[in-house]
Amino acid sequence: MKKVLFIDQSSGLGGAELCLLDIAQDYRETSAVGLFAEGDFCNALQQLGIPHHLLTDRPLKIHKDSGLWKSLASGLDIVKIATRIVQLSRDYDLVYANTQKAFVISAIAAAISRRPLVFHLHDILSTQHFSQTNLKVVITLANLFCGLVIANSEATKQAFIDAGGKPDRVHVVYNGFHADRYPEQPEIRAVLRDKLNINDQFVVGCFSRLSPWKGQHILIESLTQLPDNVTVLLVGEALYGEDDYVQQLHQQIAAAGLGNRVKFLGFRSDVPALMQACDVIAHTSTSAEPFGRVIVEAMLSHRPVIATAAGGAVELIRDRQTGWLVTPGEVAALTTAILEIQQLDHTSLSIVQSAYQTAIDRFSIITNNQKIGLLLSQLI
Ligand code: UDP
Ligand code: GLC
Repeated sequence: MKKVLFIDQSSGLGGAELCLLDIAQDYRETSAVGLFAEGDFCNALQQLGIPHHLLTDRPLKIHKDSGLWKSLASGLDIVKIATRIVQLSRDYDLVYANTQKAFVISAIAAAISRRPLVFHLHDILSTQHFSQTNLKVVITLANLFCGLVIANSEATKQAFIDAGGKPDRVHVVYNGFHADRYPEQPEIRAVLRDKLNINDQFVVGCFSRLSPWKGQHILIESLTQLPDNVTVLLVGEALYGEDDYVQQLHQQIAAAGLGNRVKFLGFRSDVPALMQACDVIAHTSTSAEPFGRVIVEAMLSHRPVIATAAGGAVELIRDRQTGWLVTPGEVAALTTAILEIQQLDHTSLSIVQSAYQTAIDRFSIITNNQKIGLLLSQLI
């Protein structure tokens, strides 16, 4: 088994970290994850018996969506982390960076320790989310030092190439999922709906961190046009300091008088059970989603899913065959799709069944981890 030093900057559990947990588990006998801070991600690694190294005793304050240089403000901290990665990496076959800022530091470290470098790219590298400087730094380092870039979708791969990344370095491997973690559970559905007091409601679930581009405000706007028996569950929290947006959502809900029809559940570790409590899952990102784990999770949960038609989401869903695709940011299209699904009995929907089969066929954790294993072997 290859010895991999994974590096990830986040303390919380975002999609990139959840994806890494499922990959790193296969390597836990020989490998470890280097972290910049303690937190939920660190705890999850511990629970799964995946070894980890804290790379600094003074956690760097990193916001995923903030500017690169702002985040990498303390030069001394960065030198310390890079030095630690250099030292550690000598005991491993390769360095595998899972997030952008971790990649920048890992690239320098891996060049010094002469270890092969992998970049698992979870973001669409465009100016919509990142500054020109940020993009330039990441692409230059990738082209200079990185033997393999794993993109989480064709959209992510194309954006990497469009930003100047070398096409021969980048390969697409979709996120993999353990299908057995998303069983149909009518009893759990009943218990949860009872507990949440939504028994007689048509429930729209949105399972995303709270962030402007995840588009929860679009769903709330849509709710103003939906019948009184529709309730929205917002599952997730602001992971990267988007507190203003959360406040804005609360104001929007209060102003529309929707307080009793929107439930903020915060960050939850029982997503599969909560999906059972929903009648439809809405993915509402207003800009291109690089992959969109929640979409596949909804497919595996036998729940109808509405996703916005941009980025990786269009690779996951075929409109009206395995789900519903709507234009990002368009309230009316979302409302129409929800109303249409409300008229259907979801358990008998062939769309839901096709979606489930598609998810099983294309997003198996075993197959997709094997693809990564093969790419790593070729690199070494
Ligand atoms: N998630 C979770 N608890 C929550 C909200 C979301 O565990 O309260 C999970 C969700 O099931 C999914 C991931 O967080 O696996 C989010 O990944 P996605 O790719 O959808 O979006 P990201 O936030 O990574 O951009
Ligand atoms: C990132 C992306 C998300 C993707 C996840 C896992 O967080 O924003 O779209 O699903 O990584 O690859």
